[in-house]
Amino acid sequence: MTKKFYITTAIDYPNGRPHIGHAYEKIVTDAHARWHRYLGEQTYFLTGTDENGQKLQESAKDAGKETQQFVDDNVAQFRELCSKLQISFDDFIRTTEPRHIEVASQVWKKLEEKGDLYFGKYSGQYCLACESFYTETQAPDGICPEHHKPLTKKEEEGYFFKISNYNQWIIDYFKSHPDFIVPRKSYNEILSRLEGEALKDIAFSRPNNGWGIKVPGNDKFVMYTWCDALVNYYSAVIAEGKSELWPADVHVIGKDITWFHSVIWPCMLQSAGIAQPKQIYVHGMVLGEDGRKMSKSVGNVVDPQTMLDRYPVDTFRYYILRAIPALDDGRFSEKELVERHNNELGADLGNLIMRFVKLSLKNMPPEISSEGVTQEIFLDETFKQMKESMDRREHNRALDALWECFHKGNQYVNDKEPWKLKTDPVALKPIIYNLCYLIHAASSLLSPFLPETAEKAISCLGQPMMKFEEIKFGELNYSLTEPAQLFPRIEYNSEGQA
Ligand code: MSP
Repeated sequence: MTKKFYITTAIDYPNGRPHIGHAYEKIVTDAHARWHRYLGEQTYFLTGTDENGQKLQESAKDAGKETQQFVDDNVAQFRELCSKLQISFDDFIRTTEPRHIEVASQVWKKLEEKGDLYFGKYSGQYCLACESFYTETQAPDGICPEHHKPLTKKEEEGYFFKISNYNQWIIDYFKSHPDFIVPRKSYNEILSRLEGEALKDIAFSRPNNGWGIKVPGNDKFVMYTWCDALVNYYSAVIAEGKSELWPADVHVIGKDITWFHSVIWPCMLQSAGIAQPKQIYVHGMVLGEDGRKMSKSVGNVVDPQTMLDRYPVDTFRYYILRAIPALDDGRFSEKELVERHNNELGADLGNLIMRFVKLSLKNMPPEISSEGVTQEIFLDETFKQMKESMDRREHNRALDALWECFHKGNQYVNDKEPWKLKTDPVALKPIIYNLCYLIHAASSLLSPFLPETAEKAISCLGQPMMKFEEIKFGELNYSLTEPAQLFPRIEYNSEGQA
């Protein structure tokens, strides 16, 4: 039976235009989804928007729009960004859709039937931006650890989830599932927090201000973000009759929402009797070039739309996937992006193709048959290394391994000096054949990361895109045509006018 692979991004708050963090997470998730599709797995990729928060009501008010209109306008921008970034999602869920509301209500009822929801009063320090209460330990100075704004005291009646029932269970679960969170650093942080402080029951509803999913049986309240937003991963497949996809194989998220995904969500699922996702992959944060969190007031914000206006989509995808470490934070430098465009995409890859294809077309017939060729370039080890890196969710390492091949290819050309064999087609052909094989196989491995470039790279070989294992050395013939120029050189201008 074909292995299934269900991968999700966090659902974004559409309270403005999408920012670099959203673009980053989508590109990363897309590369992993495409990789698993490439491996032949039955892959399903979910993304979407988190639309029920009170914060959205506030933002719509500030923008002078009706909440629904405000959300619709912003969601259109998130969808447009996905399309420009070539994000291959299978479904885009909006938490205001009836299909989601229905399943979120079912989950609520399951928790209620289990006896894990109760009505009570809560008083604590609250941050409007996070829509969260903070404990003394989490915010000892009364400042929101996420937004660095003062918390306000708030008293509220509503429903609570008895997460305290799951205190020992979640610790045991972590201990028996050491790969539940990647990277290990995040796993250790959450486990030590769990062991250091007992779980306190959490507020599970908000007063109904006319926006949100109504609590089943009591429409004075709407669901708080836990039962609303987190459930999207489950509702999207259940509502579509695709229950076989559950549990998710990977939830891809940023580190600011690790606790919600690795503690609150599993406890809810345990209470509702629903299987646990297999893994939470916590990626790093994209920081400004100065290493600080991007912020308008600091002036270090990079707008993904601007990057796409200035550079090819694959230059942006490549930079995101290779230059920002997969398991850590990374700085975004436009200058470095231009350097990598010129050196790694333009020179290592683009020039390599130009070098041998042009030389071959000038001195030999375009047909490069496999007859009498001996293999001198091998990629099996690269594929293995890429697979291992992707399993560890280290896409940047996978690209490191792939780029080694292009370096080796360039070295091979330097060593063989094919320009000296212009009048000796018998000696020249096997060299060209080896290089055709390299570009064919390496482009195949590149396709999950830079789909457009991979297609362009093989367009001069006279062979279609194939799976790695189908590209057998010595069994295919190539027929060369003029290569497309990949990644023409860009001059970086510090004013941003590259
Ligand atoms: N709506 C919640 C998630 C609910 S999931 C059930 C949310 N939305 S968000 O729009 O604020 O963030 C969406 C994703 O983008 C999160 O995974 C977040 O960590 C990620 N990022 C936000 N800023 C980021 C960077 N600067 N860099 C990388 N990813 C970042 O949280």
